[in-house]
Amino acid sequence: MPAQPDYSSTNVGVFGAGGSGKTTWAARYLTATPFQARFVFDPIGSLARYLRIPRAQTEADLVQQLRTGWAAYDPARMFPDDYEAGAAWFARWSFTWSERLSGRKVWACDELWRFMTSSRLPPEIRTVMLAGRNFGMDFLAITHRPTDLHPQIRPQLDLVACFATTADGESARYLVDRGFDLDQVRALRPAKVRKPPCGQFVVRSLSGAEYSGALYGGGAQGVARR
Ligand SMILES: Nc1ncnc2c1ncn2[C@@H]1O[C@H](COP(=O)(O)OP(=O)(O)OP(=O)(O)O)[C@@H](O)[C@H]1O
Ligand SMILES: [Mg+2]
Repeated sequence: MPAQPDYSSTNVGVFGAGGSGKTTWAARYLTATPFQARFVFDPIGSLARYLRIPRAQTEADLVQQLRTGWAAYDPARMFPDDYEAGAAWFARWSFTWSERLSGRKVWACDELWRFMTSSRLPPEIRTVMLAGRNFGMDFLAITHRPTDLHPQIRPQLDLVACFATTADGESARYLVDRGFDLDQVRALRPAKVRKPPCGQFVVRSLSGAEYSGALYGGGAQGVARR
């Protein structure tokens, strides 16, 4: 499969405190976007649970799953003591497939901060994100705050979905730079309150388009700002 130089990939960052609604939103996004293949690194099983998809523990099972358009990977069997190595292996495996498969693909990881610190960027994850876009591969990272992500990753996000958070310091500055209204973000109601409207979010693109809404009991509103 030749590179897809004209493809404009979308790298998504989903931020928010525990129980704010991040994983639910990401599962909906992955389902609603017409990806040809979705590569999900899911050691906790959180995304697979919301998506109601099985997780593969071996390469053979991953290949089988990929036929359905969803390859969710649980590293427990191949990398029982080293999930970070599992993330690196899966990123490399996914990247190999992105070169072979046509169409739009995505590599997604919940709680990415567990496998990539802000000071250490595994080269395999760097490759799947930065070089993957040449082969139609999008990227989706879910984590608590922007500073959990390596500084090389942060500027590459095209779309930021922000849920209830107490962002301060560098994370707050990142969100302000991206056009977020911090007072609005801090007032968002998390999903865990379970009283609609809850799971409130604000999504902004690099171009300044914005929409906000709630996972439970609130319609989405789109406005173009900035
Ligand atoms: N109608 C509903 N159905 C299911 N869950 C709901 C509903 N309303 C609110 N919730 C809450 O949504 C929360 C799930 O949110 P989600 O797991 O997406 O959050 P998260 O930000 O990923 O959390 P964590 O940081 O713990 O992974 C649960 O706490 C659940 O109680
Ligand atoms: Mg979650």
